[in-house]
Amino acid sequence: MRRKLAAGNWKMNGMSAELEELSTLARMYPSPTVDVLICPPATLLYRAASTVQATDIQVGGQDCHANTSGAHTGDISAGMLLDAGASAVILGHSERREDHGEQNEDIRAKARAAMDAGLKAIICVGESLEQREAANTLDIIGGQMSGSIPDQSTGENLIVAYEPIWAIGTGKVPTLDEIGEVHDFIRTRLERRFGEGVGRSVRLLYGGSVKPGNAADIFAVSNVDGALVGGASLKAQDFAGIIDALQNA
Ligand code: 13P
Repeated sequence: MRRKLAAGNWKMNGMSAELEELSTLARMYPSPTVDVLICPPATLLYRAASTVQATDIQVGGQDCHANTSGAHTGDISAGMLLDAGASAVILGHSERREDHGEQNEDIRAKARAAMDAGLKAIICVGESLEQREAANTLDIIGGQMSGSIPDQSTGENLIVAYEPIWAIGTGKVPTLDEIGEVHDFIRTRLERRFGEGVGRSVRLLYGGSVKPGNAADIFAVSNVDGALVGGASLKAQDFAGIIDALQNA
């Protein structure tokens, strides 16, 4: 059975004061029945890890470099994330594909580095509104998957997040049928490439305007094993609503 996962992506949000939200979450969920992961900005990672140390809540990074060390000013290696207390890293988020021109092969190299370092790689895929309207969604997702998911992937080290770009931060959410269609497609693709055992064990997250009010419906969709949450992960009370929905799914 795949263990469900509620993952929060704080993006470029969070100062020292916001660690209080994490403390609140830690008090509320010392040992949740689903996996709970918070990915704060790198500046807070070590302190976030200390904040949740006595609980089962985990912390992760939002990106890493493909190399283990060296002359790469401003970058952070997968080993450094692990050293700071991370157990996972988000890779290939559409905001990084957009802001930093990350291509599938860059993401694949980063994912290899993350897996080699012992981190779980949360690889993001998703179509733009134009691509959806042109009925290219599954082609785009299939291409992103073959390009960015490394061969060494297993159910332990890989998580795939489906995040339609037009649903991120917009309050717009695909229909449950649309979410199900893409998640079933991702599952089939994984089974075909890695075999049924591995393909079935990889967790698939939905991301894009997940809120306490729509979480339960989304978690009831086939092959949705949890969520990657932006805005609603910044406040403990909001994220708690999503964790509760997942625990009850
Ligand atoms: P929102 O939940 O704010 O739409 O963000 C989703 C996201 O991009 C998570 O990585």
